[in-house]
Parts: sequence; structure tokens; C-alpha cells
Amino acid sequence: QAQTPQDLIAREGVLQLAPANYPETQVWGYSGAVPGPTIRLPQGGRMTRRFVNELPQPGTIHWHGIRIDNAMDGVPGLTQDVVEPGETFLYDFVLPDAGTYWYHPHNRSYEQMARGLSGALIVEEADGGPEVDSDEVLLLDDWRLTEDAQIAGGFGNMHDWAHAGRIGNWITVNGTGDWRTTVQRHSRHRLRLVNTANARIFSLEAQGLEGWLIALDGMPLDAPQSLGRLTLAPAQRADIIVDVTASVGEEALLVNFERDGGYAIASFDVTAVARSERLDAPSPLPPNPVPQLGPLQTARTAKLLMEGGAMGRMDGAMMGGQMMGMREMAGAGKVWAFNGMADMPDAPLVAANRGETVRIDITNDTAWPHAMHLHGHHFRQIADDGTAGALRDTLLMDRGETAQIAFVADNPGDWLLHCHMLEHSAGGMMTWLRVV
Ligand code: C2O
Ligand code: CU
Ligand code: CU
Repeated sequence: QAQTPQDLIAREGVLQLAPANYPETQVWGYSGAVPGPTIRLPQGGRMTRRFVNELPQPGTIHWHGIRIDNAMDGVPGLTQDVVEPGETFLYDFVLPDAGTYWYHPHNRSYEQMARGLSGALIVEEADGGPEVDSDEVLLLDDWRLTEDAQIAGGFGNMHDWAHAGRIGNWITVNGTGDWRTTVQRHSRHRLRLVNTANARIFSLEAQGLEGWLIALDGMPLDAPQSLGRLTLAPAQRADIIVDVTASVGEEALLVNFERDGGYAIASFDVTAVARSERLDAPSPLPPNPVPQLGPLQTARTAKLLMEGGAMGRMDGAMMGGQMMGMREMAGAGKVWAFNGMADMPDAPLVAANRGETVRIDITNDTAWPHAMHLHGHHFRQIADDGTAGALRDTLLMDRGETAQIAFVADNPGDWLLHCHMLEHSAGGMMTWLRVV
């Protein structure tokens, strides 16, 4: 018996985003909430939501990080048609992996996400997960607000925003600039951090909390790592376990050290003592059923050169089959390119057979960092000595850096590979792979 799916309605609304002495901000949210409602489902379960588009522009929903059915991936022109204003689309898929995922638009995402559209999709471990006193989702966002607390315009326009992308002037956690909760000394909490910002890279430190990193981009680490400074590029997630070590009456904090000095983005007021002693380090989460990498010597390979950003660094790029100079590219809103192409290419970067291991060598030949995201799969970064790093779906690459990533192409369909700094992907940093 099929159940009527719940609706996820994208529509305009208002939110007290800035402090109370400012006006409410006009935002776009899912079902009246910014961020959208947190969806929690069991591993192996099925996600069904009817997307209702009540926005003044077409949209889709992308379920970021899920090893999803290609037809449900939400990419306009590649996996589905856009959902026009007033129309609906039924998303219906199975959740193979436990972990912290999220959903967001994939049409004009640089605008729609800057206006507030995104939410968390939490897939719970089959065994119930680690024993904690609370499990909190913290969606970190970065807004560009005008003096009267409205969302500034100029979306995706590289003439108006710095090459680093749309960096805001107002940071929120779960839609508030003053995220705060009460905790007890020696209590233990799972925090699921998600960077939903267009372009800002967070650099976080826990104070008054002893922490362990247990998962990245939804995928469990082999062993929990003691928590140092945590870099979170756009779209990246980190699951951490924290024990409260601050004393009663004190505050524990999550501090962003992206700039000198640092400032708290989340506060934990310590009100009482939960237990007399601290707990042991947490045990690792059970691994997700992601296939093991095959030999890299025989892997299918591709090369990706990231270019653009500054006059003189790139001679031009192919657009619509024509060579464009830098000035024409800027006129067309294209400032970035992959392999000399500032448009989504007609042919895939690489086509692989199902089950094949794919290796992509990426070179960041620009003067800015980028957050490379692959749809439908998790990859590992391969170090110079051949060792494979943690499973991820988004890799932060520093200026001038090269990286080698590898994954098993086990999910048939057409999958995007793009920079998750949304002004960069809109500006040309977008390509795709085919798995047959
Ligand atoms: Cu979260 Cu193609 O994106
Ligand atoms: Cu994605
Ligand atoms: Cu980028």
C-alpha cells in the first residue's frame, strides 16, 4: 500500500535572521523553515518527498552525498527536467548509507541557496549509533545582508563578488546568529556539522569540549580522531563527538578561526554535572557498504585542469564551440573553466563501466581554493605514496594544489563533478561523468 508522500514546499517567507532590532529578512525556505526541516530516516529505508515549487523560478532538489538512483539526483538537464513554478516532482529513493547528508536546489543554486534553501537529511545507523546524550544537526550558513537585513542581490555575478565567491557578512547556525544550548558537564553529544554556505570556508575549534572526529561527508572514519582544528569547505560535513569539559557556569564554544582571533558561532551553557567522570573515547561507527578500490594501475583515468579567476591567468576558454577571450568570457558571466571549457561539455569527462575504478588527476591552476564535489559516489584522495585517504564527496583544494582522487564507479548514470563554491560552478567549473 503506497503512502501519500509528505510535501517539501519551496516558498518565500520571512525569518528573524539578524538581531531583534533589525527587520525580518525575506528568505526562501522549505515548508516554511530556514534551514528546511531535518529529515531523519533509518539506513536501508526509503525517502519519499513530493517537491512542490512555489518559488517564482524553476527548481529541483539535489540530495547531496547520497549514493542515489541517477533519476533522483536533481540535476536539471542531466538527470531530470526543472520543476516549473506551480509544479511538483516526486523524489523517491532508498538510503544505502548511514550518515549526515543534506538537500539543496540544483537550479540557480548560487541564488536559491543564498536565499536560504537547504536542509539536513540524516540517515541513522542500523544499530542506533553511538551512545550520546544528544544528537544535534548544526547547519552553518553565511548570508550577505543589506543594512536593513535583506538578502543582497547580484547573485552569481562575478563582477559584484570577489573571486573567492559570495562571502557574506552574517553567519548563522540553524538560521540564527546566536545558536545556544544548555549542556551538563561530562555529558556527551554528537554534533553533525554541515557547511551550507555558498563559498565560505569555516575553520573550527572546540573550546571547553573534548572532541573526536568520527565521520566526514557522511562516511565513518576507520577510527575516531582526536579533534584539532576542523576545516569545513562548502558542502563538507563532519560528525564529531564532544564531551563537555567546561565547568558549571562556564560556556563551551565552537569558534571559527577563519580570520585572526576567531569568534564563537555556537555556545553551550554548562548548567550542571551529568556524571562524575569523563567517558572513554568513542568507538568507530560501522562502515558503510562502499566498494573497495581496485588497482590504480589499471584504473580508468582522466585529467582535470581548473583555470580562471584572474585576468592573464587564462588565455580564454571554449564556449559553445567557440574560443572566447577573457573579456568575452567575463561578459558572458564565465570566469572559470575546466579543461579549457567554460560551459558544461557535451561529452563526459570520463565514461566508465560499472564496477571499474576511476582515477582523476586534478590540478588547481588558479589563485583560489576550490571545493570539488562528485555526485553519486564517494572518492578517496590518493597520496603521493599511494595510500588512500578517507571517503569523501567534497575535496578542498588549495591554490596551485594537485590531487588524485579514485572511486569505484558502481552507480550507473550521469554524474556531475563541480566546484561547490556556487559562483564558481555557475561561472564554468562544472563537468560530468558517465557510468554505464
Ligand atoms: Cu551539493 Cu552538485 O551539489
Ligand atoms: Cu551533490
Ligand atoms: Cu571553486
